[in-house]
Amino acid sequence: METVVLSLGGSVLLRDEGYTSYVRRVAKILIDMSAKYKLYVVTGGGKIARYYIKAGRYLGADESFLDEMGIEVTRLNARLLITALGDRACHSPPKDYDEALHAGKAHSIVVMGGVSPGLTTDAVSALLAERVKAKRLVNATSVDGAYTADPKKNPDAKRIPHMTHKELIGLVGHSTGAGPNNVFDPVGARVLERSKISLAIVDGNDLVNLRAALEGKTFRGTLVAPRRRHG
Ligand code: UTP
Repeated sequence: METVVLSLGGSVLLRDEGYTSYVRRVAKILIDMSAKYKLYVVTGGGKIARYYIKAGRYLGADESFLDEMGIEVTRLNARLLITALGDRACHSPPKDYDEALHAGKAHSIVVMGGVSPGLTTDAVSALLAERVKAKRLVNATSVDGAYTADPKKNPDAKRIPHMTHKELIGLVGHSTGAGPNNVFDPVGARVLERSKISLAIVDGNDLVNLRAALEGKTFRGTLVAPRRRHG
């Protein structure tokens, strides 16, 4: 059975309107796929995490404490998805990679949040992909791939359909803070490179396309793979 890891951005999972509809729909796809695939999902924190981090910073918390609050929110989001997945999923989010690996022996779908301060859930998903020996990681985010520049600021910005890990590291390697080149975490990009794990960056809102990427089929977005595809 093929193992696939999904990094599900908090901004995709949490909605202002029809907020359970997306969770239900993504859960249906994951349940459907779990007959053929072992699935590991890492949920992001989204705006709820940002809310706590901002409020905590105003109140004087140190950065690692803020990270711990962010992690709590990512785990809360994991529980939301677990609720929609029912019996196919582990009952609570594993707190580290070994726990996740263990949970994967008993359940078709494992859902977890963050692991330790100083990381993002993208980096966690890359480290998890290494641990569970996944060949493919899909990053479901709010943009439809990696761009040459910020498409909101630069009309000439082009989506990059394929790139190598080295090219991804070149793109995100020096970025700090939020921005167009933060389509994937730099730490996570290096982890994927060293273990030759391919990465699909897709718009998580398009569930048909997300499923295609999870199944290793042709998708719209950016494919990061050890060698550039020709043709
Ligand atoms: P996210 O991975 O969702 O952060 O974790 P992000 O990059 O801000 O996500 P987007 O912008 O919604 O895509 C939320 C916060 O939780 C903490 C960090 O503070 C992070 O910013 N966190 C998460 C950790 O410290 N360690 C982890 O393993 C995961």
